Amino acid sequence: MNIAVIGAQWGDEGKGKIVDYLAADARLIVRFSGGANAGHTIVLGGEQYALHLVPSGILYPDKIVILGSGMVIDPEALFSELASLEAKGIDWKGRVLISDRAHLVLPRYRKIDKDMESSRRKPIGTTGRGIGVAYAMKASRDGIRIADLDDPTRLENLEAEDVAFVNAWRERLMPMAVDLVPYLRARKNAYVLFEGAQGALLDIDTGSYPFVSSGMSCAAGVAAQGGIGPRAINRVLGVFKAYSTRVGNGPFPTEFNPNSQSALDKFIRETGREYGVTTGRPRRCGYLDLVALRYACTANSIDHLVLTHLDVYDELDEFEACIAYRVRGKIVEDFPASVRDLSEAEPVLRKFRGWKKAIGACRTFEDLPLEAKAYVAYIEEYTETPIGIISVGSDRNATMVRESPWIRS
Ligand code: GDP
Ligand code: IMO
Ligand code: MG
Repeated sequence: MNIAVIGAQWGDEGKGKIVDYLAADARLIVRFSGGANAGHTIVLGGEQYALHLVPSGILYPDKIVILGSGMVIDPEALFSELASLEAKGIDWKGRVLISDRAHLVLPRYRKIDKDMESSRRKPIGTTGRGIGVAYAMKASRDGIRIADLDDPTRLENLEAEDVAFVNAWRERLMPMAVDLVPYLRARKNAYVLFEGAQGALLDIDTGSYPFVSSGMSCAAGVAAQGGIGPRAINRVLGVFKAYSTRVGNGPFPTEFNPNSQSALDKFIRETGREYGVTTGRPRRCGYLDLVALRYACTANSIDHLVLTHLDVYDELDEFEACIAYRVRGKIVEDFPASVRDLSEAEPVLRKFRGWKKAIGACRTFEDLPLEAKAYVAYIEEYTETPIGIISVGSDRNATMVRESPWIRS
């Protein structure tokens, strides 16, 4: 059985926590796209783990984790991440595989990424990890894949400094290489989780282009880059926060107004600890955008939504969510492609009553206060998508499952 877990907003929705939670029942965890731009946090027994390239199943001693074909891998970042896991007592050797179709991020890509950013009149706010450059090299057919590492005919086109870099890492990378399609075909009865990075609105095709990342973070990425075909995906889960955040630049219709909502903005950032895992940048915060969420649900065939950070609203008397945009006086209910429209969109907001209670200890949906249940019901109705899992804290256990995604319908 194959389950895809993707972000349904602008990243940082809590994918790492949810993948880690669901991985208890999986045998394999495949991260299908992105690179060291991602930062996935898992909190277990008070200890925090920040993962960037390694899939979020690694904390279980018996799971195999695979870096999929759509990933762009910086070997220095990968091995330093593995070393810090090892320092925390995680034995990863023999359990981390890399698709031989995955691409490498070469050191000079990071510099090019930063130079391109500084020459842009409107910078994207990239993480500076060379991600866009690696995907551009891939698309222009000048990229280097894991499978190319011991193919002299592929390496002869490279500059001397690149050859030296590749030579330095070959011996460590090659034993981890796997041909993903036959590997998964041989295990077609296994329970496999496909972990997305970034989110639907940062996807190169469905996101708020050009303020996006360069990989496929949509559910279709599983089929193109996870080693299985589209009909083999049994279920798609879309993770979203009770509110919205965004790191980097680009339109964000529900972003809190720095003048009139600065106290709320500060409250959400501090309560939700909204600072980037990869860059430490403060995340921009705003109310939940249901227009964008419904778009993400439809564009990705999301079967079940996963609501996280509901606890962050515990102390509020009331809060709002965006149910439409007003763009130059016109009501819009579909997420626009135009950056101009999205930048000028004013949110039409609906009010919700707060619950004024700590919900972090709730473990079943029935335990939640009525006001929280009403918020959940409204989101389900608006998006026409059931919310199958609710998270009320960063710890693995602060999770309530209304419907296990592993049960076949
Ligand atoms: P990812 O990139 O989607 O994996 O998310 P990040 O790890 O970048 O950011 C999510 C942050 O929220 C992390 O610090 C998590 O530990 C934390 N988190 C996850 N779920 C919850 C939740 O339900 N409530 C709260 N308060 N924090 C959460
Ligand atoms: P996870 O997997 C949030 C954003 C960057 C920038 C844009 C392009 O943790 O949810 P890039 O370096 O990818 O070229 O930057 O995308 N971005 C993310 N924002 N979460 C992420 O990953 C992100 N990965 C990239 O901030 O705006
Ligand atoms: Mg993150």
